[in-house]
Amino acid sequence: MTASPSTTPTSFAAPKGVPDYLPPESAEFVAVRGGLLDAARRAGYGDIELPIFEDTNLFARGVGESTDVVSKEMYTFADRGDRSVTLRPEGTAGVMRAVIEHGLDRAALPVKLCYAGPFFRYERPQAGRYRQLQQVGVEAIGVDDPALDAEVIAVADAGFRALGLDGFRLEITSLGDDTCRPQYRELLQDFLFRLDLDEDTRRRAEINPLRVLDDKRPHVREMTADAPVMLDHLSDEAKAHFDTVLAHLDALSVPYVINPRMVRGLDYYTKTTFEFVHDGLGAQSGIGGGGRYDGLMRQLGGKDLSGIGFGLGVDRTLLALRAEGKTVGSSARVDVYAVPLGADAKVRLAVLAAQLRAQGVRVDMAYGDRSLKGAMKGADRSGASIALVAGERDLQAGTVGVKSMATGEQVDVAMNDLVAEVLSRLS
Ligand code: HAM
Repeated sequence: MTASPSTTPTSFAAPKGVPDYLPPESAEFVAVRGGLLDAARRAGYGDIELPIFEDTNLFARGVGESTDVVSKEMYTFADRGDRSVTLRPEGTAGVMRAVIEHGLDRAALPVKLCYAGPFFRYERPQAGRYRQLQQVGVEAIGVDDPALDAEVIAVADAGFRALGLDGFRLEITSLGDDTCRPQYRELLQDFLFRLDLDEDTRRRAEINPLRVLDDKRPHVREMTADAPVMLDHLSDEAKAHFDTVLAHLDALSVPYVINPRMVRGLDYYTKTTFEFVHDGLGAQSGIGGGGRYDGLMRQLGGKDLSGIGFGLGVDRTLLALRAEGKTVGSSARVDVYAVPLGADAKVRLAVLAAQLRAQGVRVDMAYGDRSLKGAMKGADRSGASIALVAGERDLQAGTVGVKSMATGEQVDVAMNDLVAEVLSRLS
């Protein structure tokens, strides 16, 4: 079908609040994601690839109906079979679903899993707050050992530092366990109900009083400044657990500050809870967060096993690196750029390019019969440190011109020696 002359071409933009990562900056994004994930793999976490969408109830039950994430921010829709599905707003609930469904907890414990990918939250977009966000996460399930809490935290800390990031701090607290939480909740509610709260806030205090401590309005902050905090009301067991986590962090030289008023946006946390905060990012300062979740697996129909994990924001880590004036990964797209002058040279250089790629060298080539000048411009833009130039005469002589892009110096190298010459120049 041909378009009628009156049809106007439509142009599209990415959905609101969703970033595109384009070359050359996208190389940094990939390096950040890879760097954070490598830190997890080095500690024995195995990759898990999960669906981007799940049964809506999984998140409602797992993350908590009273959270903003579930009540306001989910991308929920009915599929063509009229099932309610939701684009995953976070990773932990899906991992627990998979562990239960596939019986991964029947193997040696803890089950250690890591993942990376996009998550979706219908938040108000602003700098560092996106509707499609990218995380690297880990979950260690089935062992309630404070040493494991410290490992999870140390892995995140090492991941950030390996990227060169250092302007962040780790905030940590304990949200208590089954024995001390209910009493603390009552204590906090008693305190809150004595305040002159508006109706909405009062309702929040009834459903989840901790959320009121997270209220950013100055008058509420003032009123709740002396509110009791969980840390002062821990059971002996939860306190011992927390103290051991801190002792391990000290031994591992992972710096932290205790923040007894930390409130996380997800409901499943118990005991150790933490956030990595970067001051160069403005309001969206959380570059990662996580904690232990005692009741989640049971809540989702599995065994009564505890777990601990983190989610690190790849987008925000990239922004934090920029704020520190640091770059990661190579901005050069390739190492070598081939410039053929003529059809025969194009075949020979294409073969050499394939041989070099087989040796792990990144190679691109000028296509489209460009002039020498135009092709050299392409070489420049590619970031290559070596250009390979060949025309008719070079083919007859059995050589290729090898040009250093830094100095402009060019020498002829015999075809047969070319791969070795390039490898030695790049090493
Ligand atoms: P979370 O704190 O909701 O935790 O998210 C983790 C990180 O994802 C945040 O610290 C932040 O860097 C990034 N992030 C969250 N929302 C946005 C957004 N709208 N735009 C950009 N970045 C964002 C979780 O998701 C838990 N599942 C972590 C966890 C794993 N806890 C235990 N295991």
